[in-house]
Amino acid sequence: MQIFLDTADIEAITARAGGGLVDGVTTNPSLIAASGADIFERIAQICAAVDGPVSAEVVATDLDAMLAEGRKLAAVAPNVVVKLPLTPDGLKACHVFASEGVQTNVTLCFSVNQALLAAKAGASYISPFVGRVEDMGGDGMDLLMGIREVYDHFGYETELLAASLRSPAHVEAAARIGCDVVTIPPKVFDQMIRHPLTDAGLEAFLADWKKTGRGGLA
Ligand code: E4P
Repeated sequence: MQIFLDTADIEAITARAGGGLVDGVTTNPSLIAASGADIFERIAQICAAVDGPVSAEVVATDLDAMLAEGRKLAAVAPNVVVKLPLTPDGLKACHVFASEGVQTNVTLCFSVNQALLAAKAGASYISPFVGRVEDMGGDGMDLLMGIREVYDHFGYETELLAASLRSPAHVEAAARIGCDVVTIPPKVFDQMIRHPLTDAGLEAFLADWKKTGRGGLA
């Protein structure tokens, strides 16, 4: 399973990239706005920092403007994935980009039917928003399972990218379902690594070793 960081914070990305754990990055207009950076400059910086797909989202809502913005974003770097909202025009733009060989991430997916349509439009990635479904009292994992089932049933190659994940438990559940990718905030990435029993166990091991009076092994 691939792990993407869901952030436009370049320092948060560079601090975690390069160790074989971060496979890509997703951004959205809210994250870019929060960074205060110019979108084209920030996407270029992220693409240089990460050896993998970087999703950059259009802000236009009609087909022609989405195509123009998507082409401009795709020209920033070869690893840009054009992110499109799951709207009628977004799906049309997805189909055009698929025919041109431009990678796409169809975002703001909240139903299996929407994911089915994105796959038919040729999306490279589909982003169902687990946390926002659960914010409304829905079952985010049931949404992921439904998409996995339908994609496997028909052999769609669109990658299932679990988005709006808020905790390590969300990541584990998405992995068990067989999602191809999870995108997570840096905080959740860090939480995946740490465990209190790991910290306590290491502290005890090192304390016992110190009592021997021996130093390091190298
Ligand atoms: C994914 O592509 C989105 O940027 C993100 O996961 C949304 O997460 P949120 O619902 O926590 O804002």
